[in-house]
Amino acid sequence: MNRIYLDNAATTKMDSEVLEIMVETMKSTYGNPSSTHTEGRKARALVESARKMVAQCLNASINEIFFTSGGTESNNTALKCAVRDLNIKRIISTKIEHHCVGHSLSHIQRRSGVEVILLDNDSDGHISLNQLEQYLAGSQVKTMVSIMHANNEIGTVSNMYAIGELCKKYGAIYHSDTVQTIGHFPIDVSRIHIHFLSGAAHKIHGPKGAGFLYVNSDNLIEPYIDGGSQEKNMRGGTENLHGIVGMAKSFELAMKHMEERSVYISQLKKYFIEQFQKTNLKVEFNGDISDQSLYTVLNVSFPEHPKNEMLLFNLDIQGISASGGSACTSGAEKGSHVIAALNKDPFRRAVRFSFSHHNTFKEIDIVIEKLKKIYH
Ligand SMILES: Cc1ncc(COP(=O)(O)O)c(C=O)c1O
Repeated sequence: MNRIYLDNAATTKMDSEVLEIMVETMKSTYGNPSSTHTEGRKARALVESARKMVAQCLNASINEIFFTSGGTESNNTALKCAVRDLNIKRIISTKIEHHCVGHSLSHIQRRSGVEVILLDNDSDGHISLNQLEQYLAGSQVKTMVSIMHANNEIGTVSNMYAIGELCKKYGAIYHSDTVQTIGHFPIDVSRIHIHFLSGAAHKIHGPKGAGFLYVNSDNLIEPYIDGGSQEKNMRGGTENLHGIVGMAKSFELAMKHMEERSVYISQLKKYFIEQFQKTNLKVEFNGDISDQSLYTVLNVSFPEHPKNEMLLFNLDIQGISASGGSACTSGAEKGSHVIAALNKDPFRRAVRFSFSHHNTFKEIDIVIEKLKKIYH
């Protein structure tokens, strides 16, 4: 049985070109990028050309890209180092950030007494720019704003440009978690007033354990991980060479195919919504489902039903992979803080289906049929 993988917001299948270049790198380039001999210099050249590629995708300078182990490390670094090194005394964020931001904020609040303000959101997960402006205008201390670009559970997207302008107006530092949007939407840091931006390769068909942090050159921070002088003294530790090379390839492919993939995946999502509406499953959708939303994510809310509890399990044994809440903690199946923050009927069952260009319309038909069977 061919499985239907609809959990691409958790992670994606690696592109074959990415795999090839990673295997080739592992075979042929075993030098340490910090070594000055031929093998080392060969490895260094690969790291630097990967940096150039990632910088190009964001229209950033190569000096502003630092490789990390993924989105979690990038977000931890941005938030904790900004508090430590940039004299941040107040952070404005949202209730629906990924746990690596939310838990970092709790830690910062506990340990350094920084004030953390979480903005209200509407029932689709949108925050109010007016409320953000009120807090910024009323702030007497150095403030950081941390607002994710697109939510990983419900696909609601924030307006990076407008948030950046507000931060500029009130002299705030702006960080955005773009783990779900890098490679899916064009992001040009030269046009957005932004200081820190985090990304990971595994959401766009690259390897797990490879990510980056963009640090605007006006706001230098000190390392989060102390060690050698790697990453221009910004992150100690021998570089994950094949991961970095694979990440650069996945970015290159994502940029090259962004237009066609986004059109195709948006159609899939739209089709899925329409097919749901034709059934009598009485589903609703969590989050924004408009054309402005993250086209890779559809969060479906099923009415209260005895079958709900085992729904993901039943889908799995029927060959369909989806997730409830955030997949980073899936398996644990704790209630989702994101769904809770939407303040909707708590007895409904939320399931996130998330797509890639590998999915097909036929797969959507199969999922709808299986769901009808499960519920009837
Ligand atoms: C929005 C968001 N931020 C951060 C992360 C964490 O990234 P990583 O798994 O690369 O540490 C994820 C992973 O699901 C995510 O969706």
